[in-house]
Amino acid sequence: MLYSEKVMDHFANPRNVGEISDADGIGEVGNAKCGDIMKMYIKVENGIISDCKFKTFGCGAAIATSSAATDMIIGKTIDEALKLTNKKVVEALDGLPPQKLHCSVLAEQAMKSAIADYYKRQGVDPLPLVGEIGECAACH
Ligand code: FES
Repeated sequence: MLYSEKVMDHFANPRNVGEISDADGIGEVGNAKCGDIMKMYIKVENGIISDCKFKTFGCGAAIATSSAATDMIIGKTIDEALKLTNKKVVEALDGLPPQKLHCSVLAEQAMKSAIADYYKRQGVDPLPLVGEIGECAACH
């Protein structure tokens, strides 16, 4: 079996798909490797991510990892969310085939980009907090 049961479950029943019309931060990133894009919306209340939704043109692995990642950051503080790496999401899903690892980077980068947008809207320079939303290290 190429994909774990958890990956198949998140792909077949993705959580948190859609948009948040009154989002506090919106991130959009492109995958340098395959060209697929991902948009992520966050709602922040008292420093906690109270809601998070995503939309992607990415493949099944991108859908599954974003579904899991959004589930993992809802209810967390921004600092905790920033510590969530694509590696942790992939581990929580019992792994991905190596050729699909780049897909999991979309969720991490879209989330960081949404948090950076949130900080910008608050008048805070996001760079020292979020860092550069760079390209996928696994792909370059
Ligand atoms: Fe593009 Fe998976 S192939 S996100």
